[in-house]
Amino acid sequence: MPAAVAGRRIVLGVTGGIAAYKAVEVCRRLVDAGAHVAPVLTEGATRFVGEVTFSALASEPVQTSLWDEASPIPHTDLGQGADLVLVAPATARLLGAYAAGISDDLLTATLLATRAPVVVCPAMHTEMWEHPAVQDNLRTLAERGVTVVPPAEGRLAGGDVGAGRLAEPADIVATVERLLAPQDLAGLRVLVTAGGTREPLDPVRFLGNRSSGKQGHALADEAAARGAKVTLVTTADRPVAGGVEVVPAETAADMEQAVLSRCDAADIVVMAAAVADFRPATRHDQKIKKAGGPPEIVLEPTTDILAALGRRKRPGQTLVGFAAETEELRANAGAKLAAKGADLIVANDVSAPAVGFEHDTNQVLIMSGSGIERDIPLSDKRAVARAVLDVVVSSRATHDPDLPPNSTT
Ligand code: CTP
Repeated sequence: MPAAVAGRRIVLGVTGGIAAYKAVEVCRRLVDAGAHVAPVLTEGATRFVGEVTFSALASEPVQTSLWDEASPIPHTDLGQGADLVLVAPATARLLGAYAAGISDDLLTATLLATRAPVVVCPAMHTEMWEHPAVQDNLRTLAERGVTVVPPAEGRLAGGDVGAGRLAEPADIVATVERLLAPQDLAGLRVLVTAGGTREPLDPVRFLGNRSSGKQGHALADEAAARGAKVTLVTTADRPVAGGVEVVPAETAADMEQAVLSRCDAADIVVMAAAVADFRPATRHDQKIKKAGGPPEIVLEPTTDILAALGRRKRPGQTLVGFAAETEELRANAGAKLAAKGADLIVANDVSAPAVGFEHDTNQVLIMSGSGIERDIPLSDKRAVARAVLDVVVSSRATHDPDLPPNSTT
């Protein structure tokens, strides 16, 4: 279950703008995800970032010139060998030359010599970004199938503030992953929950748990990369891929309301959140004072959201639960699958080292009514997300072989 970008050859073009330093982070993230990154810097880019920085981080040394002694035709080698060409940041000059078909340096020549998907991430001053010539060039490129990751608003070089700031590296990488990932969830609506709920006792205290939300956010990112329309109900203040609709929640009651009001429209629901089973029966309006002695805290049950979803599950909907266990993993998780009416359950032994809560890694059994579907060794949470969605896709195809996995009828 490699990442969508793992083993793929990505030419990373960097042009001369102040945002060139952010391309270093884009490069690092792509390499971390297993991509082979070939950096191409324009002469302007080398004034902002050192070639050595990219050569050290990327998969091969930086190339800057058409007149390279190692290869007589570096642009065709790069362009033909690429699975994707990414330009971040892309200056107005680069966009203009590319749109006009002018190849006056290695990067523009590579762009004209490739048939791979191309992503451009413009970054420039607001006045330049809004100039009709720049907008016309972008329209032309978009019409030709180039993916444009638009700039954000924010601080620009020289202290100005406005539109034109390079998109965040996480969003740029998410776009690359989406273009390279199998689009096996295209057209499907996926609802994911993430994080641990907090049940208030008084204005400053709550009952909570150790869930970080990392696994749920990874599921949302992976589903979005595979083409789904994703809604993420989360208690966690964590980054998530662009395009994911985020619905913040704090308590089990917030999550219940957010999920039950949206579930009927969802083709796939994944309950990765650690929802409190009990909440304080009374929420004090004022801070509980020490002088009153140890308070007696009376708890009342919350709604079991997954079980409620199981009762109202519609045909064609796939329901995935999680099971956090500290003993009898298979038996307890199997019992939860049946009791809650889920199609799949992702079982993790949260007492094992580096598994589940708070960690970046997880080790899970993915179970269906027929038993263990996949036994995933300790892996990063994105890889676990990928495996879970692989099983979802194949179980949808198995349950209704006449339907393609992304059919909602
Ligand atoms: N869950 C839920 N609503 C709750 C409690 C749990 O929807 N009030 C969901 C979780 O999101 C997860 C699954 O039920 O997908 C199992 O949660 P888990 O905490 O492992 O189990 P519990 O049902 O709480 O049972 P127990 O505490 O006995 O292990």
